Parts: sequence; C-alpha cells; structure tokens
Amino acid sequence: MDFRLTEEQEMVRQTAREFAEKELAPGVEERDEKEIYPGKYIKKLGELGFCGMVISEKYGGSGFDTVSYVVALEEIARIDPSTEIVISVHNSLVSYPLEKFGNDYIHSEFLSKLASGEWIGAFALTEPESGSDAGAMKTRAIKDGDHWILNGSKNFITTGGNCDAYLLFAVTDPSAGSRGTSAFLITRDTPGVIRGKHEKKMGIRATDTVSLALEDARVPDANLVGKHGDGFKVALTALDSGRLGVAAQGLGIAQACLEQSIKYSKERKQFGRTISSFQAIRFKIADMAIRISAARWLLRHAAWKKDQGDQYTKEAAMAKLYCSEAATYCALEAIQIHGGYGYCKDYPVERYFRDAKITEIYEGTNEIQRIVIGRALLD
Ligand code: CAA
Repeated sequence: MDFRLTEEQEMVRQTAREFAEKELAPGVEERDEKEIYPGKYIKKLGELGFCGMVISEKYGGSGFDTVSYVVALEEIARIDPSTEIVISVHNSLVSYPLEKFGNDYIHSEFLSKLASGEWIGAFALTEPESGSDAGAMKTRAIKDGDHWILNGSKNFITTGGNCDAYLLFAVTDPSAGSRGTSAFLITRDTPGVIRGKHEKKMGIRATDTVSLALEDARVPDANLVGKHGDGFKVALTALDSGRLGVAAQGLGIAQACLEQSIKYSKERKQFGRTISSFQAIRFKIADMAIRISAARWLLRHAAWKKDQGDQYTKEAAMAKLYCSEAATYCALEAIQIHGGYGYCKDYPVERYFRDAKITEIYEGTNEIQRIVIGRALLD
C-alpha cells in the first residue's frame, strides 16, 4: 500500500496551491464581505484545466483522476471555499454526469465548452418543498413534438445567477415515482427560464445562490440527459461525485483552521509565555490534526474507489459527513484558540467558521448521509 501522491497528482496539488495562494488569497476577504462572485478567477482556473478536471481529453477535459481532483479542491478550499464550491459543482454535478449520460449532441455542443471553462454549469434539483426528499419534486416537463415544456420552480442553486447552463430535473411521468423524473440541459438564455432572488447567506458569500422559475420554458428533446425516466439516477450519480467535492471543501477549511491556530498560538503571549506552550491549546491542536488526518484518508480512499470503477456511494457519504464535521469542529476550536480576536473579522477563522457550516447541509444533509451509509450496511 502506497499512500504517496503520484508525480502527476503532486503536480496538480502544487498548481492548485500556488494559484490559491497567489491569486485567490489577496481578495478573498473582500469578496466575502461584498458578495463578489469570483468570475475572473474561475476563468483562470479554466485556463489551468480545472474546469474539466475529471472530463476526458477527447471532450477538451484534463482527464485527471479523482484523487488529483479532490487534492486540488482541498487546496482551493484551504484559501477560498466559495471558489471551491463553484468549481466542484461545475465539475462534479454538471460536467461529469453530462459526460456519463449525455448524448453525442450534448457532448459536442456543450461538454467541451464546460470542460474548458468557457461555460460554467449549475445544478437545479432542489425545490421550495423538496430538499432532502429530492424525489418529491414538482417541476413538470410535458412533451410537445420534439420539445419539452417545463413549468415549476427550483431554489438554492449555486452559481445560478452567473452560470451559462443548468442541469435541471423535472417530472416527466407522475405515475412512475422516482423513475418518472428526467434530466435536462438548459441554457441560461432559454425563454421562460427566470432567475430569482439572490440569497443572502451566512457563509460562502462569494457564491451566488439563486432560485429559478420555469414558465413554459421550451427545451429540445436533444437536451434530455440520459433516457426519459433516468433523472433520479443522473442526480444521485452526480451527487456521489459532488459529495467528494463538498468533503474536499470541508477538509480544506479544517486544514486552514489548523494552520491559522498553530500560527496564532505561537505568536500570542499570555501569562508571560506563548499560548502554544499551554497543554490546553496543545490538546486542541492535536485533536484538530487527528480529525483532519482521518478525514483526508476517508476522502482519498473514496476518490480512489471511484477511480477503480467501484461503487463508492457509501464511501462518498462517509467522506462528506466526516470532512464536514471536521470542518465545523476545527473552525470552532480555531475561534476558541483565537479568543476574542477569533470572534471578530481581524482573523480569517471567523470566515472559515461561517463557510464550514454549509458543508454539513448541502449536497445532502449529514442526516441524509447517515441514511445512505445505513442503507449500504443494512439493506
Ligand atoms: N447512484 C445512482 N442511482 C441511485 C443512487 C446512486 N447513488 N442511489 C439510489 N439510486 C437509485 C435507486 O437505485 C433507485 O432506482 P430504481 O427505482 O431504479 O431502483 C432510485 O435511485 C431511487 O432510490 P431510493 O429509493 O433510494 O430513493 P429515495 O427517495 O429513498 O431517496 C435519498 C434517496 C438518498 C434520500 C436521496 O433522495 C438523496 O440523496 N437526497 C438528498 C438530496 C440532495 O443531496 N440534495 C442536494 C441538492 S444539490 C445542492 O445541494 C445545491 C448545490 O448547488 C450545491
């Protein structure tokens, strides 16, 4: 068993780390404060091949393995969790299922644009009344000749305002339950696709999260992703991969909190000595490091299983759950170590704390992850 990254994986990690430290770090606090979408950085990440990380080279992707992908995402999240989730959603929830389930037209017309970063994708599954119970969606698609007419509403769509295309899910056969939903690739300029309000969020404030209304939106039959009735399978396949991206986001946040805590505790003096010399602080730092290490190996193992072509639903859920809990744990402890300064915006741990919480919620709450893990073990 060899735990080292390969030469290529290490090169991808270094590229992501340098980009994050040189390009993303300088404006990250301002983007958070003013809710500025990191569009120009997403373009640059596209130029580096990070918008088609797991997409085949024949479609203009970089063809990296999933281990490289999660290692790169961890590095981006370590500096800027908002930019990380834009890249993660684009790669995992949109481009990856389009390659896996899309027809030739979708591959040639859309996938290469997404893989290069010319276009950015968003994932429209959640609705006002269906979140965890994704199968209860109400958005309806009705066949009309060689088109589908869509009506309904979606919400909590990451990058929903700035994206160029949506992978969107709708009911095409209400009598067939979860086998009656279908997936569609919908371009942003489709008449009847109306972007709604921008959510004012606690964290990942540089991402734009919007709702979407569909009012007689006409979508060509060729834009159906997978077969009619495959929608739930497309969504859950995408989410298995997306959960690796959220896990990497949590891990990057946890790692950043550990590094900030070590640095601060070596600078801050109380009772005539640096606080890093106190056992109370050392124990906190040790507990953070243990969780981070366990989280990292859960995540890399899940990514490795995907690379082997194995079923990895359970491992992705475990990684997402554990990495996100490590993120909130480490962020809370980092604030405690920073004391009153940690509670203010003087240090980045306040932002990491706000960013950490969402990792326990989106792409399936951690309660849903426990259901997925329990089913894999017991059913
Ligand atoms: N991959 C492929 N197919 C899968 C699958 C998987 N991982 N898991 C289940 N399926 C299939 C099943 O085999 C079944 O197919 P058949 O009917 O053909 O047998 C079908 O999907 C239905 O499966 P279930 O009966 O298990 O479905 P369920 O209704 O009980 O729900 C669930 C399962 C796990 C709770 C699921 O609804 C779920 O994951 N919910 C959470 C949704 C979620 O993550 N939402 C986040 C939205 S995206 C977001 O956060 C916003 C953003 O932009 C970041």
